[in-house]
Amino acid sequence: MAEVTVRNIVKRYGSVQVIHGVNVDIADGEFVILVGPSGCGKSTLLRMIAGLEAISGGEISIGGRVVNDVLPKDRDIAMVFQNYALYPHKNVADNMGFSLKIKGRPKAEIEAKVKKAAEILDLGKLLDRFPKQLSGGQRQRVAMGRAIVRDPQVFLFDEPLSNLDAKLRVAMRVEIKELHQRLGTTIVYVTHDQIEAMTMADKIVVMRDGKVEQVGAPLDLYDNPGNVFVAGFIGSPAMNFIKGKIGSKDGRQVFVSDAGSVLPVEGRAQDGQPVIYGIRPEHIDIAPDGLPATVSVLEPTGSETQIFAKFGEDPIDAIVKDRLTVRPGEEVRLKIDSRRVHIFDRQSGARL
Ligand SMILES: Nc1ncnc2c1ncn2[C@@H]1O[C@H](COP(=O)(O)OP(=O)(O)OP(=O)(O)O)[C@@H](O)[C@H]1O
Ligand SMILES: [Mg+2]
Repeated sequence: MAEVTVRNIVKRYGSVQVIHGVNVDIADGEFVILVGPSGCGKSTLLRMIAGLEAISGGEISIGGRVVNDVLPKDRDIAMVFQNYALYPHKNVADNMGFSLKIKGRPKAEIEAKVKKAAEILDLGKLLDRFPKQLSGGQRQRVAMGRAIVRDPQVFLFDEPLSNLDAKLRVAMRVEIKELHQRLGTTIVYVTHDQIEAMTMADKIVVMRDGKVEQVGAPLDLYDNPGNVFVAGFIGSPAMNFIKGKIGSKDGRQVFVSDAGSVLPVEGRAQDGQPVIYGIRPEHIDIAPDGLPATVSVLEPTGSETQIFAKFGEDPIDAIVKDRLTVRPGEEVRLKIDSRRVHIFDRQSGARL
């Protein structure tokens, strides 16, 4: 096991710079997830940690050793990719043991390690099967088995679940989390699925345009996003944002949208200050003393109902536990939990 340190990392492809001085500290045994929009540099950063991509500037250390010039095979890491191509003509046991075989490890050792990995991943009964005789989730577990047998200091995963269907993805999410709890190995995991990030990570690194926007524990990012970007990226469905400014009504500070809606805030900004108002759909409820809103669309999922509505001209999205009988065009009363309102500076996007 080992800690991973990423210091002022820069990556250029020719004249194009795609990573702009990234710093990340990953503790020994920590499960760290890199998230961010497509093209923000997640895979590039992971591949630089793996040694599959040259580093243009800065320093990466694994277990206290600077690895900038260390070959991938000597970094003591194992990587699992999105398309985890297994060898089609080798059975499960041979697929898992192959990396040890080419290293020339003794047969007995390979068998023992494959057996142990198979136990961990519940593949014991499938060792003689060929990849085409396995389900998607089983194949994914074999791919993880190949990484586990190498007993690396660090696991690197690049969107390993994105090819699986929704149900399997949830199951594998739980399995990877259990695997981490059992082995305690440091994991750096890339995804753009923020549910995966929220549920699996000890720590999330939110990236945008080759820079780190914020680092924190999942619930910390959810509760205290540092800016509009992180607030909009973490949480599903996404936070509502309404542009306007701070005003006052009946001696109390309120938010007044550009379109004229008046919404509750708990005093934090200066009167007249241009701001962006943020409220998560799950922090809005139906209540008799709520504000009147016109329903546009209802999406019942069984366990809850998502309401797309409008306060005057301002679209607002709410999630409630109730089943609703209202129809599009009708009015509901939506109550905003003012303690959960986030106020951001309109210019910089920083949270106030
Ligand atoms: N070999 C390359 N040559 C030039 N540019 C590249 C190369 N590989 C990646 N890039 C660019 O680097 C940026 C970061 O790419 P990267 O693959 O790291 O993004 P990502 O965050 O993993 O995105 P995704 O979520 O789509 O996988 C992108 O703008 C991409 O076009
Ligand atoms: Mg990628």
